[in-house]
Formats: sequence, structure tokens, C-alpha cells
Amino acid sequence: MILVNEHYAKLQASYLFSDIAKRVKAYQAAHPDQRVIRLGIGDVTEPLPPACIAAMHHAVDEMASSATFRGYGPEQGYDFLRAAIAANDYQARGAQIEADEVFVSDGAKCDTANIQELFSSKTRIAVPDPVYPVYVDTNVMAGRTGKARNGRYGGLVYLPCTAENGYVPDLPEKPVDLIYLCFPNNPTGATATREQLTRWVEYARANQALILFDAAYEAFIRDPAIPHSIYEIEGARDVAIEFRSFSKTAGFTGTRCAFTVVPKSCMAYNRAGECVPLHPLWNRRHTTKFNGVSYPVQRAAEAVYSPEGKQQVQALADFYLGNAKIIRETIADLGYQLTGGVNGPYVWIRTTQKDSWKFFDKLLEKAQVVITPGSGFGRCGQGYVRISAFNSRANVEEAMARIRKVL
Ligand SMILES: Cc1ncc(COP(=O)(O)O)c(C=O)c1O
Repeated sequence: MILVNEHYAKLQASYLFSDIAKRVKAYQAAHPDQRVIRLGIGDVTEPLPPACIAAMHHAVDEMASSATFRGYGPEQGYDFLRAAIAANDYQARGAQIEADEVFVSDGAKCDTANIQELFSSKTRIAVPDPVYPVYVDTNVMAGRTGKARNGRYGGLVYLPCTAENGYVPDLPEKPVDLIYLCFPNNPTGATATREQLTRWVEYARANQALILFDAAYEAFIRDPAIPHSIYEIEGARDVAIEFRSFSKTAGFTGTRCAFTVVPKSCMAYNRAGECVPLHPLWNRRHTTKFNGVSYPVQRAAEAVYSPEGKQQVQALADFYLGNAKIIRETIADLGYQLTGGVNGPYVWIRTTQKDSWKFFDKLLEKAQVVITPGSGFGRCGQGYVRISAFNSRANVEEAMARIRKVL
């Protein structure tokens, strides 16, 4: 008899964004002539930077000739891209990361989901609340949690991110082995200072723990004092894995390219307490289960680091940050408390309603604007909503004008 993985039955009913999609679909079916503006899901709207398009076209032409055609590439990514990432994203910021510590992939979602298979099923896990749901759900699927009760899974250590701690979690009160951190944060838009990240790195070093640092929104940091990488913190190489993505940086959500950095000095332990380097383990997983990102896409990603590419991706992030500013100003003007939208593309708003979904329904029904209910990201998100800056300027302006009328 084929048995199912019963841990799947613990997953809470449905994934946040499919819930939203269902409500929007039902609303649109009932009101076919209303134009709905979506500031909910974090998908980009602007086209790929011209430098990426030119590089991709050129690479497609190479695939058309037997002299330059490429078949399977190295699973870890082509050397040209790994070297560009190490030099520009890390060494240029004083972080000692080498090209062969970079693993190119087709998404930070899959990497943050897949990394947990390197760790024991007994691992004690800390997750922020609110949180990007992938970190939690993948550990539920793998059987590392108990059942859900009141929106929280047994066995996980939740780290509240609230207005009181500036949405940067405090160190856990119970001992943990694996800590998920995400800065700039989805959903709160919060960033962590050098001192705050240093505290986490010191905690991990003192407790033989590991930090999984998701920096998918790094490109939106404008404050020069905020670290872009966990590896800007001394000692982080030994206790942290970092995830990055070209999705939000360069509009690659539909093109798919990302990378994970596993430094060679980064360790976990076996039952005897001996160090086990994680780099060979991730290399083994990656080469066994993944066959690489397509050559034209890797060439497009490499172009992000060319002089024109750098200017174009900066302009792209600046454009979305301009939207975020309009959202922040409108919502603050209406008297709501908010955070984010300065070094990240999300604005996190404390609503007047106890239930985030009520506020969601109100904006959908009265303003035809889709936002994201904060409760979908965790218990601490209840009463909050997230507004995404990913849309055209015209749509953001129109959405804010409608919200102004309704609130
Ligand atoms: C925090 C965070 N990490 C990772 C991802 C996924 O990135 P990718 O498109 O590279 O899979 C997202 C996408 O919304 C995200 O918000």
C-alpha cells in the first residue's frame, strides 16, 4: 500500500496567495466592469533591463550555431556568473566570498525550501512572525513540526516582530539550532542594522546554530549604513547561508535566476559533535537534484553586473521605491501607523480593524484595490496589511486616490 506523507495533512488549509486569488476572482465575477488594481502579490511589472535583454538575445544566437551551442551546463552555474556575483555582490563590499561558494539556481523560493533537507529532523527551528510562508510550510512538509493550533505549528520557535522591537526579532528565549532571517523583510519592509545582525551572528557562533539569511530584497537598500549581506558581519561566514534572487533586483520573476551562498567554512555538526562542512552537502544535493539554469538566462543575469546593467537595475529599484514613497505618504496622511517602503518594496500598515481580512475585503469591495492581509504571514501580522510597490506608477497613483476616498 502506498502511504502518503501525512505531514502534508498538517498544512493549514491553503496558501495565502491562492486565498487572495479566490476572493479577487469571486469579486470580479460579480462585478465584471470594475477595474481591480493589484498591490497584493509581490510580482514585478516592469520589463527586463535592456542590458539583460541584449545579453539574452546574444546568448540565444549562440545557441543557434553548432560552434557556440551549449547543452547541459555546470549544475552550480557557469563560472562567468559565479565570478561576477562573488566580485560585485560580496568582495566589493568587503565580504570574503569566493566564486565557488556561489550556487546558481532558478529561484530563492526553491533554495530556501530545499536547504532544510541538509539538516536533521530533530533540528530546533526559529522563524520570525510574520514570516515568508515558504520557510514554515517546507518544514511542516518535512515533518519537523507538530500540528497547527491557532495559526502556529507545534515545535517551532516563533520570533515576534512587532512595532516594539522595530520588526527585528529579539534573540530566542529557548535554545534553537536553525534561524530564518529575511532583510529587507517580506512582509514588513524592515531592515536590520549592523549591530542587530552582529547579535544574531554572535548567538549562532555561541550556540553552534546556523542562520539562513534571505536577502532577496537587497537591491532596495538605499541607506549606506545598512548591511546588504550577512557576510558583511565578522564571523558570519562560519554560521550563515545567504539566499539572493534576480527576481526583484532585475525583474526576473518570470525569467528565473537566483543564487545561494554556502561558504566553505560554514559548518553543521554530526551526533558526535564533530564539524561537518555544509558546502559539500549542498553541492551534492544541487548536482543530484538540479540541472542548472539555462545559458541565455545566466548570460542575462551576468549583464546585471555590467556598467549599464548596474545603472539600469538601480533605476528599476528606484522606480519601485518611488511607488513605495507615494504609498507611504498617502497612508501616513490618512493617519495610519506604518513601516517599510524606504529600503524595501513593501509597506506594512497597522489597520484599525482587528481582522486583516476585513480590511482586505473593504479595500477590494470599496476601492477595487488588492492588498495582502498581514494575518496570512503569521499571528503577529493580525491587524496589519502589506501593500506592495510593484506596479506601474499610474496604477499606484490611481489605487492611492481610490483608497483616499474610501478611508
Ligand atoms: C523573502 C522572499 N524570498 C524569496 C522569494 C522568491 O524569490 P524567487 O523568485 O527567486 O523564487 C520571495 C518572493 O516573493 C520572497 O519574498
